[in-house]
Amino acid sequence: MGVLAAAGIQRPRGTEDILPADAHRWRHLEGIARDQAGRYGFGEIRTPAFEYTELIHRVGVSTDVVQKETYDFADRGGRSLTLRPEGTAPVVRACLQAGLFGGSLPVKVAYVSMAAFRYERPEAGRLRQHHQFGCECFGVPGPTADAELMLLLADFLAAAGIRSAVAHCNTIGCAECRPSYRQALQAYYRDLLPTLCADCRRRFEQNPLRLLDCKIDREAALGAPRATDHLCAACGEHFQGLRALLAAGGLTYEVDHLLVRGFDYYTRTVFEFVHAGIGSQAALGGGGRYDGLVESLGGAPLPAAGFGVGMERLLGALALEGRGDGPAEGCDLFVTGEDTAAVFALCAEARRAGVTAEFDGLGRSLRAQFRHADRLGARLVAILQGGDRPVALRDMRTRQQRDIPRPAIVAAVLAEKDAG
Ligand code: HAM
Repeated sequence: MGVLAAAGIQRPRGTEDILPADAHRWRHLEGIARDQAGRYGFGEIRTPAFEYTELIHRVGVSTDVVQKETYDFADRGGRSLTLRPEGTAPVVRACLQAGLFGGSLPVKVAYVSMAAFRYERPEAGRLRQHHQFGCECFGVPGPTADAELMLLLADFLAAAGIRSAVAHCNTIGCAECRPSYRQALQAYYRDLLPTLCADCRRRFEQNPLRLLDCKIDREAALGAPRATDHLCAACGEHFQGLRALLAAGGLTYEVDHLLVRGFDYYTRTVFEFVHAGIGSQAALGGGGRYDGLVESLGGAPLPAAGFGVGMERLLGALALEGRGDGPAEGCDLFVTGEDTAAVFALCAEARRAGVTAEFDGLGRSLRAQFRHADRLGARLVAILQGGDRPVALRDMRTRQQRDIPRPAIVAAVLAEKDAG
Protein backbone atom coordinates (compact mmCIF):
# COMPACT_ATOMS: atom_id res chain seq x y z
CA MET A 1 0.00 0.00 0.00
CA GLY A 2 2.83 2.37 0.90
CA VAL A 3 4.23 2.33 -2.59
CA LEU A 4 0.81 2.72 -4.20
CA ALA A 5 -0.13 5.54 -1.85
CA ALA A 6 3.08 7.34 -2.72
CA ALA A 7 2.15 6.98 -6.36
CA GLY A 8 -1.29 8.40 -5.54
CA ILE A 9 -3.09 5.09 -6.13
CA GLN A 10 -5.71 4.39 -3.53
CA ARG A 11 -9.15 2.91 -3.73
CA PRO A 12 -11.70 5.42 -5.04
CA ARG A 13 -13.37 7.62 -2.43
CA GLY A 14 -16.52 6.08 -1.00
CA THR A 15 -15.56 2.49 -1.81
CA GLU A 16 -14.42 -0.34 0.43
CA ASP A 17 -12.17 -3.34 0.00
CA ILE A 18 -13.48 -6.55 1.49
CA LEU A 19 -10.41 -8.34 2.78
CA PRO A 20 -10.18 -12.02 3.75
CA ALA A 21 -10.56 -11.18 7.45
CA ASP A 22 -14.00 -9.68 6.72
CA ALA A 23 -15.17 -11.76 3.78
CA HIS A 24 -16.59 -14.51 5.99
CA ARG A 25 -19.03 -11.98 7.49
CA TRP A 26 -20.28 -11.20 4.01
CA ARG A 27 -20.58 -14.85 3.06
CA HIS A 28 -22.44 -15.56 6.27
CA LEU A 29 -25.00 -12.81 5.56
CA GLU A 30 -25.28 -13.81 1.92
CA GLY A 31 -26.05 -17.38 3.00
CA ILE A 32 -28.79 -16.11 5.32
CA ALA A 33 -30.17 -13.87 2.55
CA ARG A 34 -30.36 -16.77 0.08
CA ASP A 35 -31.89 -19.03 2.70
CA GLN A 36 -34.57 -16.52 3.72
CA ALA A 37 -35.36 -15.50 0.14
CA GLY A 38 -35.65 -19.20 -0.75
CA ARG A 39 -38.10 -19.83 2.08
CA TYR A 40 -40.35 -17.14 0.65
CA GLY A 41 -40.07 -18.51 -2.87
CA PHE A 42 -37.71 -15.94 -4.42
CA GLY A 43 -35.24 -17.19 -7.04
CA GLU A 44 -31.89 -15.51 -7.55
CA ILE A 45 -31.32 -13.00 -10.36
CA ARG A 46 -28.09 -11.24 -11.43
CA THR A 47 -28.03 -8.33 -13.83
CA PRO A 48 -25.16 -6.32 -15.35
CA ALA A 49 -23.43 -3.62 -13.30
CA PHE A 50 -24.29 -1.07 -16.01
CA GLU A 51 -27.37 -0.37 -18.10
CA TYR A 52 -28.24 2.03 -20.88
CA THR A 53 -28.61 5.47 -19.32
CA GLU A 54 -32.12 5.77 -20.69
CA LEU A 55 -33.41 2.97 -18.47
CA ILE A 56 -32.03 4.41 -15.25
CA HIS A 57 -33.04 7.97 -16.05
CA ARG A 58 -36.55 7.11 -17.16
CA VAL A 59 -37.20 5.77 -13.68
CA GLY A 60 -36.56 8.88 -11.68
CA VAL A 61 -37.14 12.24 -13.24
CA SER A 62 -37.49 13.94 -9.86
CA THR A 63 -35.36 11.50 -7.89
CA ASP A 64 -32.12 12.82 -6.38
CA VAL A 65 -30.38 9.48 -6.84
CA VAL A 66 -31.04 9.61 -10.57
CA GLN A 67 -30.79 13.37 -11.13
CA LYS A 68 -27.61 14.05 -9.24
CA GLU A 69 -25.91 10.84 -8.22
CA THR A 70 -25.55 8.49 -11.16
CA TYR A 71 -22.27 7.50 -12.76
CA ASP A 72 -23.00 8.13 -16.44
CA PHE A 73 -20.36 7.57 -19.10
CA ALA A 74 -20.04 7.11 -22.81
CA ASP A 75 -18.50 3.85 -23.96
CA ARG A 76 -16.04 3.68 -26.83
CA GLY A 77 -18.95 3.23 -29.23
CA GLY A 78 -20.46 6.51 -28.06
CA ARG A 79 -23.44 4.95 -26.22
CA SER A 80 -24.38 6.42 -22.88
CA LEU A 81 -24.26 3.90 -20.06
CA THR A 82 -24.97 4.23 -16.35
CA LEU A 83 -23.66 2.19 -13.44
CA ARG A 84 -26.82 0.90 -11.76
CA PRO A 85 -27.68 3.01 -8.70
CA GLU A 86 -30.21 0.42 -7.47
CA GLY A 87 -31.65 -2.94 -8.43
CA THR A 88 -35.32 -2.46 -9.18
CA ALA A 89 -35.24 -0.89 -12.66
CA PRO A 90 -32.55 -3.30 -13.94
CA VAL A 91 -34.53 -6.27 -12.61
CA VAL A 92 -37.69 -5.07 -14.34
CA ARG A 93 -35.71 -4.62 -17.55
CA ALA A 94 -34.22 -8.13 -17.27
CA CYS A 95 -37.59 -9.79 -16.57
CA LEU A 96 -39.21 -7.92 -19.46
CA GLN A 97 -36.40 -8.86 -21.80
CA ALA A 98 -36.59 -12.54 -20.80
CA GLY A 99 -40.39 -12.53 -21.19
CA LEU A 100 -40.86 -13.67 -17.59
CA PHE A 101 -43.95 -11.54 -17.08
CA GLY A 102 -45.72 -13.42 -19.86
CA GLY A 103 -45.33 -16.68 -17.94
CA SER A 104 -46.87 -17.78 -14.68
CA LEU A 105 -47.32 -15.16 -12.00
CA PRO A 106 -46.15 -14.08 -9.54
CA VAL A 107 -42.53 -13.66 -10.58
CA LYS A 108 -40.40 -13.47 -7.43
CA VAL A 109 -36.70 -12.66 -7.76
CA ALA A 110 -33.91 -11.81 -5.32
CA TYR A 111 -30.44 -10.32 -5.73
CA VAL A 112 -27.70 -10.86 -3.18
CA SER A 113 -24.82 -8.43 -2.56
CA MET A 114 -25.64 -6.59 -5.76
CA ALA A 115 -23.21 -3.67 -6.18
CA ALA A 116 -24.91 -0.27 -6.59
CA PHE A 117 -23.20 3.00 -7.44
CA ARG A 118 -24.20 6.47 -6.33
CA TYR A 119 -22.10 9.61 -6.50
CA GLU A 120 -22.95 10.74 -2.97
CA ARG A 121 -20.94 12.62 -0.37
CA PRO A 122 -19.32 9.74 1.50
CA GLU A 123 -19.88 9.50 5.25
CA ALA A 124 -20.46 6.71 7.75
CA GLY A 125 -23.07 4.42 6.18
CA ARG A 126 -23.01 6.24 2.84
CA LEU A 127 -20.76 4.92 0.12
CA ARG A 128 -20.29 5.46 -3.58
CA GLN A 129 -20.34 1.72 -4.12
CA HIS A 130 -22.56 -0.24 -1.77
CA HIS A 131 -24.17 -3.67 -1.95
CA GLN A 132 -27.79 -4.67 -1.58
CA PHE A 133 -29.78 -7.76 -0.85
CA GLY A 134 -33.09 -7.13 -2.54
CA CYS A 135 -36.31 -8.94 -3.41
CA GLU A 136 -38.88 -8.01 -6.05
CA CYS A 137 -42.31 -9.55 -6.48
CA PHE A 138 -44.35 -9.02 -9.67
CA GLY A 139 -47.98 -9.74 -10.40
CA VAL A 140 -49.68 -9.53 -6.99
CA PRO A 141 -52.11 -6.61 -6.77
CA GLY A 142 -53.21 -7.14 -3.16
CA PRO A 143 -51.34 -6.37 0.04
CA THR A 144 -50.18 -9.96 0.62
CA ALA A 145 -47.07 -9.14 -1.46
CA ASP A 146 -46.27 -6.00 0.56
CA ALA A 147 -46.79 -7.88 3.82
CA GLU A 148 -44.74 -10.87 2.68
CA LEU A 149 -41.84 -8.61 1.72
CA MET A 150 -41.91 -6.81 5.05
CA LEU A 151 -41.96 -10.10 6.93
CA LEU A 152 -39.13 -11.46 4.81
CA LEU A 153 -37.03 -8.38 5.53
CA ALA A 154 -37.82 -8.67 9.25
CA ASP A 155 -36.95 -12.38 9.26
CA PHE A 156 -33.72 -11.72 7.39
CA LEU A 157 -32.61 -9.00 9.82
CA ALA A 158 -33.50 -11.18 12.80
CA ALA A 159 -31.67 -14.20 11.37
CA ALA A 160 -28.65 -11.97 10.70
CA GLY A 161 -28.64 -11.11 14.41
CA ILE A 162 -30.14 -7.61 14.42
CA ARG A 163 -32.10 -6.94 17.60
CA SER A 164 -32.98 -3.27 17.43
CA ALA A 165 -34.45 -2.48 14.04
CA VAL A 166 -37.83 -0.76 13.91
CA ALA A 167 -40.16 -1.23 10.95
CA HIS A 168 -41.77 1.95 9.64
CA CYS A 169 -44.50 1.92 7.04
CA ASN A 170 -46.73 4.38 5.29
CA THR A 171 -48.85 4.72 2.18
CA ILE A 172 -48.43 7.45 -0.43
CA GLY A 173 -51.52 6.72 -2.51
CA CYS A 174 -51.75 6.16 -6.24
CA ALA A 175 -52.08 8.15 -9.47
CA GLU A 176 -55.72 8.78 -8.61
CA CYS A 177 -55.45 10.17 -5.10
CA ARG A 178 -51.89 11.51 -4.95
CA PRO A 179 -52.57 14.70 -6.93
CA SER A 180 -55.00 15.90 -4.26
CA TYR A 181 -52.47 15.03 -1.56
CA ARG A 182 -49.74 16.93 -3.42
CA GLN A 183 -52.04 19.94 -3.57
CA ALA A 184 -52.77 19.71 0.15
CA LEU A 185 -49.02 19.59 0.85
CA GLN A 186 -48.32 22.57 -1.42
CA ALA A 187 -51.11 24.55 0.23
CA TYR A 188 -49.60 23.78 3.64
CA TYR A 189 -46.01 24.55 2.64
CA ARG A 190 -46.67 27.62 0.47
CA ASP A 191 -46.49 30.06 3.39
CA LEU A 192 -43.45 28.29 4.80
CA LEU A 193 -41.49 28.47 1.53
CA PRO A 194 -39.14 31.32 2.56
CA THR A 195 -38.11 29.37 5.66
CA LEU A 196 -37.36 26.13 3.78
CA CYS A 197 -33.93 24.89 2.72
CA ALA A 198 -32.84 25.24 -0.91
CA ASP A 199 -33.53 21.57 -1.69
CA CYS A 200 -37.04 21.84 -0.31
CA ARG A 201 -37.81 24.98 -2.29
CA ARG A 202 -36.94 22.95 -5.40
CA ARG A 203 -38.98 19.96 -4.20
CA PHE A 204 -42.01 22.19 -3.58
CA GLU A 205 -42.81 22.27 -7.28
CA GLN A 206 -41.26 19.02 -8.47
CA ASN A 207 -42.00 16.51 -5.76
CA PRO A 208 -43.74 18.00 -2.72
CA LEU A 209 -43.94 14.60 -0.98
CA ARG A 210 -40.18 14.77 -0.48
CA LEU A 211 -40.69 17.86 1.67
CA LEU A 212 -41.74 15.47 4.43
CA ASP A 213 -38.37 13.78 4.18
CA CYS A 214 -36.29 16.90 4.80
CA LYS A 215 -33.73 16.35 7.55
CA ILE A 216 -33.50 20.10 8.23
CA ASP A 217 -37.15 21.14 8.43
CA ARG A 218 -38.50 18.40 10.72
CA GLU A 219 -40.77 20.79 12.60
CA ALA A 220 -42.63 21.88 9.49
CA ALA A 221 -43.13 18.28 8.39
CA LEU A 222 -44.71 17.26 11.70
CA GLY A 223 -47.67 19.57 11.12
CA ALA A 224 -48.11 18.67 7.44
CA PRO A 225 -51.23 16.94 6.05
CA ARG A 226 -51.04 13.15 6.11
CA ALA A 227 -51.35 10.90 3.09
CA THR A 228 -53.61 8.54 5.03
CA ASP A 229 -56.21 11.34 5.14
CA HIS A 230 -56.19 11.76 1.33
CA LEU A 231 -56.42 8.17 0.07
CA CYS A 232 -58.93 6.98 -2.50
CA ALA A 233 -61.12 4.08 -1.40
CA ALA A 234 -58.94 1.45 -3.09
CA CYS A 235 -55.70 2.76 -1.52
CA GLY A 236 -57.38 3.01 1.88
CA GLU A 237 -58.52 -0.59 1.60
CA HIS A 238 -55.06 -1.70 0.50
CA PHE A 239 -53.43 -0.07 3.52
CA GLN A 240 -55.98 -1.53 5.94
CA GLY A 241 -55.46 -4.93 4.32
CA LEU A 242 -51.70 -4.62 4.76
CA ARG A 243 -52.07 -3.70 8.42
CA ALA A 244 -54.30 -6.71 9.05
CA LEU A 245 -51.76 -9.02 7.37
CA LEU A 246 -48.84 -7.57 9.31
CA ALA A 247 -50.79 -8.20 12.50
CA ALA A 248 -51.54 -11.76 11.32
CA GLY A 249 -47.84 -12.26 10.55
CA GLY A 250 -46.82 -10.97 13.98
CA LEU A 251 -44.76 -7.99 12.79
CA THR A 252 -44.49 -5.00 15.09
CA TYR A 253 -44.22 -1.74 13.15
CA GLU A 254 -44.96 1.96 13.30
CA VAL A 255 -47.09 3.90 10.85
CA ASP A 256 -44.73 6.76 9.96
CA HIS A 257 -46.62 9.56 8.23
CA LEU A 258 -43.37 11.25 7.20
CA LEU A 259 -42.01 8.23 5.34
CA VAL A 260 -42.03 8.86 1.58
CA ARG A 261 -38.78 7.26 0.25
CA GLY A 262 -36.52 8.52 -2.47
CA PHE A 263 -37.72 7.05 -5.75
CA ASP A 264 -40.54 8.27 -7.99
CA TYR A 265 -41.80 4.81 -8.76
CA TYR A 266 -43.48 4.02 -5.46
CA THR A 267 -47.26 3.72 -5.22
CA ARG A 268 -49.28 2.99 -2.08
CA THR A 269 -47.08 1.11 0.40
CA VAL A 270 -43.64 2.37 1.41
CA PHE A 271 -41.60 0.91 4.26
CA GLU A 272 -38.21 1.20 5.89
CA PHE A 273 -36.42 -0.71 8.65
CA VAL A 274 -34.49 1.74 10.78
CA HIS A 275 -31.70 1.07 13.27
CA ALA A 276 -31.45 3.40 16.22
CA GLY A 277 -27.69 3.19 16.70
CA ILE A 278 -26.03 3.71 13.34
CA GLY A 279 -26.26 7.48 13.04
CA SER A 280 -27.79 9.67 10.39
CA GLN A 281 -27.86 6.95 7.71
CA ALA A 282 -30.19 4.86 9.84
CA ALA A 283 -32.20 2.96 7.21
CA LEU A 284 -30.98 -0.60 7.00
CA GLY A 285 -33.39 -1.37 4.21
CA GLY A 286 -36.50 -0.11 2.54
CA GLY A 287 -38.90 -0.59 -0.28
CA GLY A 288 -42.52 -0.54 -1.24
CA ARG A 289 -45.03 -1.06 -3.99
CA TYR A 290 -44.41 0.22 -7.53
CA ASP A 291 -47.44 -0.65 -9.60
CA GLY A 292 -46.62 1.68 -12.52
CA LEU A 293 -42.96 0.88 -13.17
CA VAL A 294 -43.27 -2.18 -15.42
CA GLU A 295 -45.64 -0.32 -17.72
CA SER A 296 -43.48 2.79 -17.76
CA LEU A 297 -40.55 0.62 -18.90
CA GLY A 298 -42.51 -0.77 -21.81
CA GLY A 299 -44.33 -3.77 -20.35
CA ALA A 300 -48.02 -4.44 -19.86
CA PRO A 301 -49.37 -3.01 -16.60
CA LEU A 302 -48.21 -5.25 -13.77
CA PRO A 303 -48.40 -4.65 -10.02
CA ALA A 304 -45.11 -5.04 -8.16
CA ALA A 305 -43.41 -4.53 -4.82
CA GLY A 306 -39.93 -5.02 -3.41
CA PHE A 307 -37.20 -3.97 -1.00
CA GLY A 308 -33.45 -3.47 -0.84
CA VAL A 309 -31.27 -3.75 2.24
CA GLY A 310 -27.74 -2.37 2.42
CA MET A 311 -25.13 -4.96 3.33
CA GLU A 312 -22.58 -2.43 4.61
CA ARG A 313 -25.13 -0.72 6.86
CA LEU A 314 -26.26 -4.10 8.12
CA LEU A 315 -22.69 -5.12 8.93
CA GLY A 316 -22.19 -1.75 10.67
CA ALA A 317 -25.31 -2.29 12.79
CA LEU A 318 -24.26 -5.82 13.66
CA ALA A 319 -20.83 -4.61 14.76
CA LEU A 320 -22.53 -1.99 16.91
CA GLU A 321 -24.72 -4.63 18.53
CA GLY A 322 -21.63 -6.73 19.16
CA ARG A 323 -22.75 -9.41 16.72
CA GLY A 324 -22.09 -10.25 13.14
CA ASP A 325 -18.94 -12.24 13.47
CA GLY A 326 -20.53 -15.28 11.91
CA PRO A 327 -18.57 -18.48 11.88
CA ALA A 328 -15.01 -17.50 10.99
CA GLU A 329 -13.33 -19.60 8.38
CA GLY A 330 -11.17 -22.02 10.28
CA CYS A 331 -8.49 -24.34 9.16
CA ASP A 332 -9.17 -28.04 9.75
CA LEU A 333 -5.66 -29.30 9.41
CA PHE A 334 -2.12 -27.96 9.46
CA VAL A 335 0.52 -30.34 8.12
CA THR A 336 4.15 -30.19 9.13
CA GLY A 337 7.25 -32.39 8.71
CA GLU A 338 10.79 -32.49 7.40
CA ASP A 339 9.90 -33.86 3.98
CA THR A 340 8.31 -31.00 2.04
CA ALA A 341 7.01 -33.25 -0.76
CA ALA A 342 5.31 -35.55 1.77
CA VAL A 343 3.75 -32.54 3.56
CA PHE A 344 2.61 -31.19 0.21
CA ALA A 345 1.14 -34.57 -0.80
CA LEU A 346 -0.87 -34.95 2.43
CA CYS A 347 -2.22 -31.41 2.08
CA ALA A 348 -3.29 -32.07 -1.49
CA GLU A 349 -4.95 -35.37 -0.54
CA ALA A 350 -6.77 -33.76 2.41
CA ARG A 351 -8.02 -30.81 0.35
CA ARG A 352 -9.38 -33.14 -2.32
CA ALA A 353 -11.29 -34.97 0.41
CA GLY A 354 -12.93 -31.71 1.52
CA VAL A 355 -10.61 -30.70 4.33
CA THR A 356 -9.31 -27.13 4.74
CA ALA A 357 -5.60 -27.80 4.96
CA GLU A 358 -2.50 -25.61 5.22
CA PHE A 359 1.26 -26.05 5.55
CA ASP A 360 4.28 -23.84 5.97
CA GLY A 361 5.80 -22.69 2.73
CA LEU A 362 8.32 -20.35 4.30
CA GLY A 363 10.79 -22.77 5.86
CA ARG A 364 9.90 -21.82 9.43
CA SER A 365 11.06 -23.74 12.51
CA LEU A 366 8.69 -26.32 14.00
CA ARG A 367 7.87 -23.96 16.89
CA ALA A 368 7.11 -21.12 14.51
CA GLN A 369 4.97 -23.47 12.44
CA PHE A 370 2.88 -24.34 15.50
CA ARG A 371 2.44 -20.64 16.24
CA HIS A 372 1.34 -20.13 12.64
CA ALA A 373 -1.10 -23.06 12.93
CA ASP A 374 -2.56 -21.38 16.02
CA ARG A 375 -2.94 -18.09 14.19
CA LEU A 376 -4.79 -19.89 11.40
CA GLY A 377 -7.08 -21.44 14.00
CA ALA A 378 -6.10 -24.97 12.93
CA ARG A 379 -8.09 -27.65 14.77
CA LEU A 380 -5.59 -30.41 14.07
CA VAL A 381 -1.90 -30.56 13.28
CA ALA A 382 -0.45 -33.58 11.48
CA ILE A 383 3.23 -34.11 12.15
CA LEU A 384 4.86 -36.33 9.51
CA GLN A 385 7.56 -38.31 11.23
CA GLY A 386 9.29 -39.60 8.12
CA GLY A 387 9.38 -42.89 6.20
CA ASP A 388 6.68 -45.41 7.11
CA ARG A 389 6.30 -44.11 10.62
CA PRO A 390 2.76 -43.16 11.68
CA VAL A 391 1.64 -39.57 11.58
CA ALA A 392 1.21 -37.78 14.90
CA LEU A 393 -2.17 -36.03 14.92
CA ARG A 394 -2.47 -33.31 17.53
CA ASP A 395 -5.76 -31.80 18.61
CA MET A 396 -4.94 -28.12 19.16
CA ARG A 397 -7.86 -27.63 21.55
CA THR A 398 -7.12 -30.50 23.94
CA ARG A 399 -3.37 -30.58 23.12
CA GLN A 400 -3.69 -34.37 22.94
CA GLN A 401 -1.76 -36.29 20.34
CA ARG A 402 -2.18 -39.76 18.87
CA ASP A 403 -0.36 -41.76 16.22
CA ILE A 404 -2.25 -42.77 13.07
CA PRO A 405 -0.95 -44.79 10.10
CA ARG A 406 -0.31 -42.53 7.12
CA PRO A 407 -2.94 -44.16 4.85
CA ALA A 408 -5.67 -43.57 7.49
CA ILE A 409 -4.86 -39.98 8.33
CA VAL A 410 -7.31 -38.18 6.03
CA ALA A 411 -10.19 -40.41 7.16
CA ALA A 412 -9.28 -39.62 10.79
CA VAL A 413 -9.28 -35.87 10.08
CA LEU A 414 -12.65 -36.14 8.32
CA ALA A 415 -14.07 -38.05 11.30
CA GLU A 416 -12.87 -35.31 13.68
CA LYS A 417 -14.30 -32.64 11.40
CA ASP A 418 -17.70 -34.38 11.27
CA ALA A 419 -17.71 -34.74 15.04
CA GLY A 420 -17.37 -30.91 15.20
P1 HAM B 1 -32.81 2.61 -1.22
O1 HAM B 1 -33.52 3.00 0.03
O2 HAM B 1 -32.23 3.70 -2.03
O3 HAM B 1 -33.83 1.75 -2.06
O4 HAM B 1 -31.64 1.61 -0.87
C1 HAM B 1 -31.88 0.44 -0.12
C2 HAM B 1 -30.85 0.32 0.99
O5 HAM B 1 -29.54 0.33 0.42
C3 HAM B 1 -30.83 1.48 1.98
O6 HAM B 1 -31.78 1.29 3.00
C4 HAM B 1 -29.41 1.40 2.52
O7 HAM B 1 -29.29 0.41 3.53
C5 HAM B 1 -28.63 0.95 1.31
N1 HAM B 1 -28.00 2.11 0.66
C6 HAM B 1 -28.55 2.96 -0.22
N2 HAM B 1 -27.67 3.90 -0.61
C7 HAM B 1 -26.52 3.64 0.06
C8 HAM B 1 -25.23 4.25 0.10
N3 HAM B 1 -24.93 5.31 -0.64
N4 HAM B 1 -24.29 3.70 0.90
C9 HAM B 1 -24.56 2.61 1.64
N5 HAM B 1 -25.76 1.99 1.64
C10 HAM B 1 -26.73 2.50 0.87
C11 HAM B 1 -33.54 1.19 -3.26
O8 HAM B 1 -32.46 1.13 -3.74
C12 HAM B 1 -34.74 0.50 -3.87
N6 HAM B 1 -34.32 -0.08 -5.17
C13 HAM B 1 -35.30 -0.56 -2.95
C14 HAM B 1 -36.48 -1.26 -3.56
C15 HAM B 1 -36.46 -2.47 -4.13
N7 HAM B 1 -37.69 -0.77 -3.67
C16 HAM B 1 -38.45 -1.64 -4.29
N8 HAM B 1 -37.71 -2.70 -4.58
